Amino acid sequence: MLDFKKIIYDEAVKVLDGLEITDVAPSDAFCDYCVPCFKFAKLLRKAPKAIAEEAASKIQIDGIKVEALNGYLNFTIERDTLGKLLFSSSLGEDKPLKGKTVCIDYSSVNIAKPFHIGHLMTTVIGGSLYKMFVALGADAVGINHLGDWGTQFGGLIAAFRKWGSEEKLNERGLDELLELYVRFHAEEKADPSLKDEAREWSKKIESCDPYAVGLFEKFKAITLEQAKKVYGRLNIEFDSYLGESFYVDKVSGVEDKLRAKNLLETSDGAEIVTVGEDMPPAIIRRSDGASLYVARDLAAAYYRHDTYNFDKCLYVVASHQALHFKQFFKVLELLGEPWAKDMVHVSYGMVSVEGAALSTREGNVLFLNDVLDSAVGKAAKIIEERNPSLEGKQKVSESVGVGAVVFGALYDGRLKDKNFSLESALNFDGETGPYVQYTHARCRSVLSKAGKFNRKIDVTLISDDAAYETVKLLYDFDSVVYNAATKYEPSIVSRRLVKICQAFNRFYNADRIMCGGKTQDARLYLTEKVADTLKYGLSLLLLDAPERM
Ligand code: ARG
Repeated sequence: MLDFKKIIYDEAVKVLDGLEITDVAPSDAFCDYCVPCFKFAKLLRKAPKAIAEEAASKIQIDGIKVEALNGYLNFTIERDTLGKLLFSSSLGEDKPLKGKTVCIDYSSVNIAKPFHIGHLMTTVIGGSLYKMFVALGADAVGINHLGDWGTQFGGLIAAFRKWGSEEKLNERGLDELLELYVRFHAEEKADPSLKDEAREWSKKIESCDPYAVGLFEKFKAITLEQAKKVYGRLNIEFDSYLGESFYVDKVSGVEDKLRAKNLLETSDGAEIVTVGEDMPPAIIRRSDGASLYVARDLAAAYYRHDTYNFDKCLYVVASHQALHFKQFFKVLELLGEPWAKDMVHVSYGMVSVEGAALSTREGNVLFLNDVLDSAVGKAAKIIEERNPSLEGKQKVSESVGVGAVVFGALYDGRLKDKNFSLESALNFDGETGPYVQYTHARCRSVLSKAGKFNRKIDVTLISDDAAYETVKLLYDFDSVVYNAATKYEPSIVSRRLVKICQAFNRFYNADRIMCGGKTQDARLYLTEKVADTLKYGLSLLLLDAPERM
């Protein structure tokens, strides 16, 4: 991938004779990049102006204009240079991560708990990073680390036997499970014997009692059915659904390694690992013999390392689990695993919708599927008003409604807390998914009206300000994707898409596309590049790109 800053840096360093240049900073005032020469004055015993002038006369870079101005060395990328670059390459052609393997743990739903709005961020950040890594040539492994282990399932079975029935479960699915869960938590406070019953049932699951396991499997099927509905709507895929229960019997292997390095201590009957003075110890096993979350994560990390030999292993999990991941990674470091440095907690902030908080225990949950439904309903109304004769309205409404929610989730930096408003996420003129989708459809409609055109264009014909602004935002799109993936930050792509749309819409208003002759061909080709880039970018963000809107 082309890096102008580096090219300029390398050339400037030669001429300024090994002096350290630190300020080849992008600046869009007089030029694209500049090097202030003031700090060289003392060392070279020359005026900055003279230094810049002398350097400018010596530096030659193909396609880049070099000038001296008042002690600054200015570099301007010639407009045709970018135009030529844009039209000589195709999107996603470079595979800079070829041969690398990246495991991505995301969404990771909990069995028998609702798939709610709190799962939106992990699901879409992980799903989008997955697409980006694949596009960059990496082997991505999408892992849904199911929360399928713990005492809560014992409680659920106890509640099911007391207040539930097979019929109600079949009929109401997750709603029934949620109600049982909430009722169990409410009643266990008043009646402690319920806790004992729950413990009994958990033990039965652990000892593979067929009745208990059968019920658990049913809870699991119901939960996954709901989650997969959402995954389908979000264009999300996974390569593995191995959950926590898979690792329970692999914890002893981790304990052996810890013991061999003298890292396992006993404290009040529990097994712990001291991970430093700044954090509480990591608890591997409770005194009653039950393994803990971190222990299962350690076992899973070894399993992933052995199975996939990853270069990076990402965990897309909310910031409130930061301590867990710090402890977990620290244990691997203490164990001397060189790959401990390749473990990354891809953290993100809190989400609420229209101010509504969420909590499973009290039962006021916002199911992700319902949020998507309501966005699609609103999208359908807007589309009905804007374009009542549109073909395939229902499908477009689905793409636009779901897209609005996903794009909204991926538009701010991931660490920022978000309060979601469906109204603004669906604003066709805002910095939204529908705005990008609409701009894409506008390009396609221009292109389909125009019909055939000649793609052997003269790039100087699209070097006026309005066109060039668009060219500049398109030519380095591959490196934008690379940046986003390697910083685990899909918003780098979503922000660029909005900028491209804004620039294209200015170009569309300033330059008449159907102006005839060679200029028309050049403008059409630029329009096609915009459409292709938007479509590609949207797909990396899990959004559809309808041809008509
Ligand atoms: N199921 C967990 C939760 O909802 C998230 C699991 C994240 N992945 C992991 N390997 N710890 O909190």
